[in-house]
Amino acid sequence: MRFNLFRQLDGAESGGTAATSPLLAPPHAAHQEPTGPIKIQTRDVSVFYGDKQALFDVSVDIPDKAVTAFIGPSGCGKSSFLRCLNRMNDTIPIARVKGSIRMDGEDIYDKALDPVLLRARVGMVFQKPNPFPKSIFENVAYGPRIHGLTENKTELADRVEQSLKRAGLWAEVADRLDAAATGLSGGQQQRLVIARAIAVEPEVILMDEPCSALDPIATAKIEELMDELREEYCLVIVTHSMAQAARVSQRTAFFHMGELVEFDDTETIFQNPRDKRTLDYITGRFG
Ligand SMILES: Nc1ncnc2c1ncn2[C@@H]1O[C@H](COP(=O)(O)OP(=O)(O)OP(=O)(O)O)[C@@H](O)[C@H]1O
Ligand SMILES: [Mg+2]
Repeated sequence: MRFNLFRQLDGAESGGTAATSPLLAPPHAAHQEPTGPIKIQTRDVSVFYGDKQALFDVSVDIPDKAVTAFIGPSGCGKSSFLRCLNRMNDTIPIARVKGSIRMDGEDIYDKALDPVLLRARVGMVFQKPNPFPKSIFENVAYGPRIHGLTENKTELADRVEQSLKRAGLWAEVADRLDAAATGLSGGQQQRLVIARAIAVEPEVILMDEPCSALDPIATAKIEELMDELREEYCLVIVTHSMAQAARVSQRTAFFHMGELVEFDDTETIFQNPRDKRTLDYITGRFG
């Protein structure tokens, strides 16, 4: 069942016709699994770069213990919206964010809230893995150290080991923790930066096209990892791969020209979308 769905979606991605429409795909078991309570609630979120508005009044309820996927054509505002969720837009001088974003009911744009601490709670993984030019160990130990999360060396080493294990990288690096992180393969580096994010015990992990620089095998590993991580975390991923959104997410948001067109169960988005723009996008008619 699951395999058919991938095939049909992969077909649609490579310019497939209505005959390979994901709308014909059978449901994917992961979509039927219950999600946790609402973790992040956004209301009328708009993003401006200078005078130009890039995102228009986006309101979504993102569940905990689930993977939420953001899809849509290039330039539709996926990354801009994702960056709102951990205030990364604060670091772009011309960017301005309006509206409200609450995590567990707490306003994350509250002036009293330290964005650095917020970004430890809401970790981010980028398209291109960005390990620090340090050893594998030091990459993962960095966060716990600066946030004072461990008491001594043994605790820190344990934390590094646990994080690497949860990121599915331990077996491949256990015997070379002191080696340079930049010597790892792209897929290993991506799992390393996920371990680095996990090491500070985040509540939410944002991933902006985390697999687009990876080969299919490394991609499969990261997808497996997302599926495991969702048991503990709220995951939000941006992806250009509709097959990936269908495989790993329980909720999907479709954006178009800065507008949130549709947000629903992944199964509904791919099999029974309400909006014609969603249908056109997932069947490969534009984008
Ligand atoms: N730092 C920035 N300065 C000015 N404009 C920006 C900046 N970042 C994004 N934009 C503009 O905001 C709009 C949305 O961009 P964004 O990067 O959020 O889209 P996206 O959906 O992530 O696209 P892609 O799929 O290509 O990554 C685009 O018009 C883009 O040019
Ligand atoms: Mg983007």
